[in-house]
Amino acid sequence: MIVVHTKQELDEQLLDWRRNGDHVALVATMGNLHQGHVSLVELAREHAERVVVSVFVNPTQFGEDEDFEDYPRTLEKDKRRLKAVAVDLIFAPHLETVYPFGLEDATTVSVPRITENFCGASRPGHFDGVTTVVARLFALVQPDIAVFGQKDYQQQLVIRHMSLDLNLPISIITAETVREDDGLAMSSRNQYLSAEERSIAPRLHEVLVKIGDQLQSGRRNFAELESESTEKLTAAGFDVDYLSIRRAQNLQLPDRDCDELVVLVAAQLGAARLIDNIVVTI
Ligand code: PAJ
Repeated sequence: MIVVHTKQELDEQLLDWRRNGDHVALVATMGNLHQGHVSLVELAREHAERVVVSVFVNPTQFGEDEDFEDYPRTLEKDKRRLKAVAVDLIFAPHLETVYPFGLEDATTVSVPRITENFCGASRPGHFDGVTTVVARLFALVQPDIAVFGQKDYQQQLVIRHMSLDLNLPISIITAETVREDDGLAMSSRNQYLSAEERSIAPRLHEVLVKIGDQLQSGRRNFAELESESTEKLTAAGFDVDYLSIRRAQNLQLPDRDCDELVVLVAAQLGAARLIDNIVVTI
């Protein structure tokens, strides 16, 4: 496994693989890797001879009072984890490799509308930061495929939109959410939870599953379902940011006949902002 930090080192390796006719898959991460990230690597491996994992804590997707400074940076541990699953190359770029003109003069990629609600509403500028860095990583690595997690449902839709709209020659693959045994979606931010909060956290997924069951059994009063479930989470100690039943395809409001729904939730629990979702196919 090779670890590179600059564009030149990356280009040399990519050229070698391209000469060989190898396909390249990219798994973009901010590091502090867990089994969720590893599952993306495993899926990437099924689609390409070469797997690149980028590790970059991207400043432009964090709000002013968010956790950019505190975000856990654990590159040495991440390297060991990725070596164990036979990743070909880790791309851990310097800030100037990703933003050669600096942050002030950086070209921004911005997807409208689908970024306005949910995490986009609570975290202004967040998705512009995500699309801006993912477009840059795509340009640097030039992968044939890129794998993103369903855990960040809105994020993978936004990236799909960007790729299609810009005609980027990259297939976007979405990988299922990996969970702890009690159902909590794995996340680097789970470590911000106290022991007591950690014992409450699985309620988030439980509530989603219950909504899924009700939708499957024909319930269609979406607004009522949303407010009942929000109340349950509030009573359990969550500060709910949003809980919403939407069309899986585009996050628009569904009508009664919609047969592919997504239930999205974001809630603060102590110091951690937790997000989760389930897709319900009727
Ligand atoms: P990060 O939070 O490190 O996540 C990297 C990738 O892992 C994302 O595609 C995310 O959806 C996926 N992932 C996280 N937890 C997961 C889980 N429990 N199961 C399956 N997949 C999971 O998302 C980002 O970084 C950044 O926004 C990034 C796309 C790298 C741009 O900076």
